[in-house]
Amino acid sequence: MKKILIIGSIHNHGIDLLKENKNFEFEVVDNTDAEFLKNKIIGFDAVSVRTSKISKEIINSAKNLKIISRHGVGYDNIDLSAIKDNNITLAITATANAQAVAEHVLFMLFNIAKRNNMYNDSVKSGKFEERTKLPKTIELWNKNILIAGFGRIGKCLLKKCKGLEMNIFVYDPFISNEEIEKLGGAKVENLETSLGKMDAISIHMPLNDKTNHLIDYDMIKKMKKNCILINAARGGIINEEDLNKALNENLIFGAGLDVFEKEPPSLDNPLLKNDKAFLSPHSAVFTEECLSRMGIETIQNIIDFFEDNLDNSKIVKI
Ligand SMILES: NC(=O)c1ccc[n+]([C@@H]2O[C@H](COP(=O)([O-])OP(=O)(O)OC[C@H]3O[C@@H](n4cnc5c(N)ncnc54)[C@H](O)[C@@H]3O)[C@@H](O)[C@H]2O)c1
Repeated sequence: MKKILIIGSIHNHGIDLLKENKNFEFEVVDNTDAEFLKNKIIGFDAVSVRTSKISKEIINSAKNLKIISRHGVGYDNIDLSAIKDNNITLAITATANAQAVAEHVLFMLFNIAKRNNMYNDSVKSGKFEERTKLPKTIELWNKNILIAGFGRIGKCLLKKCKGLEMNIFVYDPFISNEEIEKLGGAKVENLETSLGKMDAISIHMPLNDKTNHLIDYDMIKKMKKNCILINAARGGIINEEDLNKALNENLIFGAGLDVFEKEPPSLDNPLLKNDKAFLSPHSAVFTEECLSRMGIETIQNIIDFFEDNLDNSKIVKI
């Protein structure tokens, strides 16, 4: 009997899979405190984890651990060198997330372009008649969008942007020109020099040493004044202090953030009070459908692993 520790509650559809399978016993914990997890994890063979930090100390105390199954696709919360040293497999819910995140990007783009906060407020506060005095909105049709990071989510977003008849550019040094063109995009070789012609920029790369603060004040300064910048990848890729300054100086039209350098962000983070920032609480995947898919996939990956049947595409190569 294998023991699975589920850190952070998951959709019932994932739990149902385990209840049907007599080869596993499981426990769900909501406490994500490092000291608690370090003691709790002892004796478990597998872990399913959302965004809680799984440090070297936690991994080193988990002597039976064979697999960490991320409920999601990013894995910057896991100490990779520790799982390598301990020969632990890391799996992700590779097929579950892309649609929900790509839709969330469109939701942000439209909200910002149509100045939803102002126009919604005008009706609700009884100022309907002032609609002609509100700042103008903008269209997405025939506009240039840069998709920065062209993996599962970037590709999915491209398809949706094609439906909006946008001109799609892609920055991803690891994806060939041919692959991008085949899907209807145009490859951008140099991020910095491409920024000046984009009306929208959406970030879909991992957070790592190379991408940390990739978008800073100087980069934003190169963008068009009507550019909308979206980050639904990982906080830290955009320098938040610089972004706030740039928004206050009207360097771009607006920004949409689903992710933050520190989560939850401090209450004194000025972006929380910036009208040009459209924010969501790392909730791009919180659709009923996506949570169900992730709940099922994070558990199925563990079952498949112990049945020696885990698809290679779900395993992170470290
Ligand atoms: N907001 C959310 O809830 C949410 C949900 C899922 C994923 N994410 C995040 O979205 C991002 C993308 O996820 P995915 O599933 O598409 O990942 P993926 O691994 O399929 O794609 C990432 C792409 O980024 C590219 N890339 C790597 N370094 C780059 C760089 N320096 N510049 C440009 N491109 C680079 C890679 O070549 C790859 O094509 C990840 O950061 C992930 O953590 C966020």
